[in-house]
Order: sequence, then C-alpha cells, then structure tokens
Amino acid sequence: MSASCRVVVLISGNGSNLQAILDGCDDNLNAEVVGVISNKPDAYGLVRAHHSEIDTSCVIARKGEQREDFDARLINAIEKYQPDLIVLAGFMRILSDKFVSKYLGKMINIHPSLLPKYTGLNTHQRAIDAKDTEHGASVHFVIPELDAGPVILQAKVPVYPEDDAETLAQRVHEQEHAIYPLVVKWFSLGRLSMNNNQAFLDGCVIGESGYAPD
Ligand code: GAR
Repeated sequence: MSASCRVVVLISGNGSNLQAILDGCDDNLNAEVVGVISNKPDAYGLVRAHHSEIDTSCVIARKGEQREDFDARLINAIEKYQPDLIVLAGFMRILSDKFVSKYLGKMINIHPSLLPKYTGLNTHQRAIDAKDTEHGASVHFVIPELDAGPVILQAKVPVYPEDDAETLAQRVHEQEHAIYPLVVKWFSLGRLSMNNNQAFLDGCVIGESGYAPD
C-alpha cells in the first residue's frame, strides 16, 4: 500500500489500543485513522478520538434488533470512510458472518490471550485459575469463527503467583500497545495479507503462534 493506509477503528470502551495506534500514526505507521466508530456512546475512546481531531460515529444497537441489521448499519458507517483496514480495538460485539466476509483479509483484532487459548471473555482470570505461568495477547485476522482467525503476532507476559486479573490485565495491556501499532504498520506497508485462512508477512506464512523471527 503506497499512500497512507486509511484505518477505521471500532471500539466499545477505554480505547487505550486506539490511543497506541493514534500515537503510532503520529510517528511512522504509514497509516491514518480516518474514523472511530463505537457501539457505546460513553466509550472513553471517543474522547481520545476527539482530542486527536478524528471523526467519530456511534452505532448503537436498537432494542430487539437482529445482528444482521445492526451489522448493515455498521457497514454503512464504516463505508463512509472508505477504509483500507478495519481495526477492532476492544470492540465487544460478535459480528455476523456476512459482515466478517465483507472485510475478510482487511480486518484485524486484538485479543487478550495467547490464542488459541481462552477465546471469549474473562481471559485473565481464566489464565490465573488454570495456574498458567505465561499469558499474553494476540493480534489476528478476523474470520467468522470467534477469535479463531490466523494469528499475526503474539506477546507473552509472565503470570506471578500474587497476580489478580487486574494486575495481569495491566501487564498484558502494555504489550498490546506495543504489538498492535506494529501490525497496523505491517499492513499499511503492504507486507501483511491473509490467504486461505493463513497469515503472510512479506509473502511467507506466519506460524500458528504468530510471527517469530529466527
Ligand atoms: C483489550 O485488552 C483487548 O485485548 C480486549 O479489550 C481490551 C480493550 O482495551 N479485547 C477483547 O477482549 C476482544 N475479545 P482498550 O479499550 O483499552 O483498547
């Protein structure tokens, strides 16, 4: 991708990953966040976007609304920005197959676990309950199956005996803020792609645990 990559970020909450990407764009990401969309009107990430003078929209689920109908409205909101890349940054909604198929290979997510471990919610507590000594975060392409798309990059953190979900989440968050902007950069430079359910960096298949330099 030669010109700056147009990025739309979808959020539901604090938006610290959005902030890390915005900070990266100020440096050298070759990407421009052209819009931030939230499904929660009070998401703090919207305030962050305003501070950076980024256009925002809210798409709020209506009572009894079918998932496909919500997703159709979400697509309308996204398409206004003509993005090259959709970044899910704490966007806490399950997306319909139709929505995911539309953006296949153009949509990435960050998940707070070392996938395929702990898809879904409460990942930090589950890692503690399982007495894992290692935990982390994964950036992956989004496919219709929840949290199951090919992993692009993972970051690991230790789990200490005295950890609770909050201290562990904080440690994972710090790593998320390092790896997510890097993956956005790879995509925006045209180095990253998805084909046949596999992620590629510079034309080479990325292994199941994400990119790992030799
Ligand atoms: C992040 O930890 C992200 O991994 C997680 O939500 C948090 C959002 O934080 N995403 C998921 O759990 C998606 N399944 P943020 O709003 O501060 O970026």
